[in-house]
Amino acid sequence: MSVSPIHAAAGEPAHTRTDLQGKVALVTGASRGIGRAIAQTLARRGATLAVHYNAAAEQANSLVTEIVAAGGRAFAVAADLSRADGVNLLTGRLREQLQTQFGHDSLDILVNNAGVGLRAKIEDVREADFDRVLQVNFKAPFFLIQNLLPHLRDGGRIINISSMGTRSAYPEMSAYAPAKAALEALTYLLASQLGERGITVNAVLPGATATELNVRARDPELIPALIATVALRRVGQPDDIADIVAFLASDEGRWITGQRIDASGGQRL
Ligand SMILES: NC(=O)c1ccc[n+]([C@@H]2O[C@H](COP(=O)([O-])OP(=O)(O)OC[C@H]3O[C@@H](n4cnc5c(N)ncnc54)[C@H](OP(=O)(O)O)[C@@H]3O)[C@@H](O)[C@H]2O)c1
Repeated sequence: MSVSPIHAAAGEPAHTRTDLQGKVALVTGASRGIGRAIAQTLARRGATLAVHYNAAAEQANSLVTEIVAAGGRAFAVAADLSRADGVNLLTGRLREQLQTQFGHDSLDILVNNAGVGLRAKIEDVREADFDRVLQVNFKAPFFLIQNLLPHLRDGGRIINISSMGTRSAYPEMSAYAPAKAALEALTYLLASQLGERGITVNAVLPGATATELNVRARDPELIPALIATVALRRVGQPDDIADIVAFLASDEGRWITGQRIDASGGQRL
């Protein structure tokens, strides 16, 4: 059997793998939570990381320092994706950094992770909040993909972080879940369009994960009721999601495209 250079050696534990060496990855919203864990995991496996953030410059820079101290390559790039010009700012800054540091402006892995939550039933949603949720969770990934497609190498990966809220009815996700569902629809059609370039496009659907975004998954009083709905009887941790993303980003995920991967430990089965 021929072994591709990006395969880990048989039996090698995932944390010592270098199978993403030579790959360049952009993770949006990588300053904290799930995005931070994804960036850490991809960097541990050898990828060069563009650590995108909005307001948390200190956290993004500390992650860059951590990756570089461990022998990896990373840089931070800021952009507010709730602003109309956010995607173009991010694209311009990313390409400039890549050109300056590495002499090219190509990437291999795009993880659209940045997101904002909104807990409100339809009768309580204000238009400004609706616009923000749609902008950050759907419009920004849409136009970021549009901007970066000419720079994404053949054989690359697009991984969109959605939510298991799209497959289960949570009335208080009246704007958030439809925004994520739109991202999933885009995932599906892009997988078809980009397959001829060897680019896979998938959506990962976290369930309740302990981050700043999910107050319930961090509140000791609310956790028992929450985990009663989860087959594996705990809330998710950012690393649970990051390992799935790393699998999809790696050569091992090469034959999966156009899929919605549930990453909830079996929430509301
Ligand atoms: N946690 C869950 O239970 C859960 C469940 C299902 C799906 N998800 C999805 O998983 C993804 C990550 O969520 P998380 O729980 O890790 O959230 P989080 O801890 O709140 O982190 C959100 C990230 O998105 C960035 N971000 C927020 N607003 C932004 C904006 N206007 N422009 C650019 N970046 C912005 C933040 O940057 P700054 O730190 O710089 O502000 C941060 O890096 C989201 O897409 C979310 O919808 C989460």
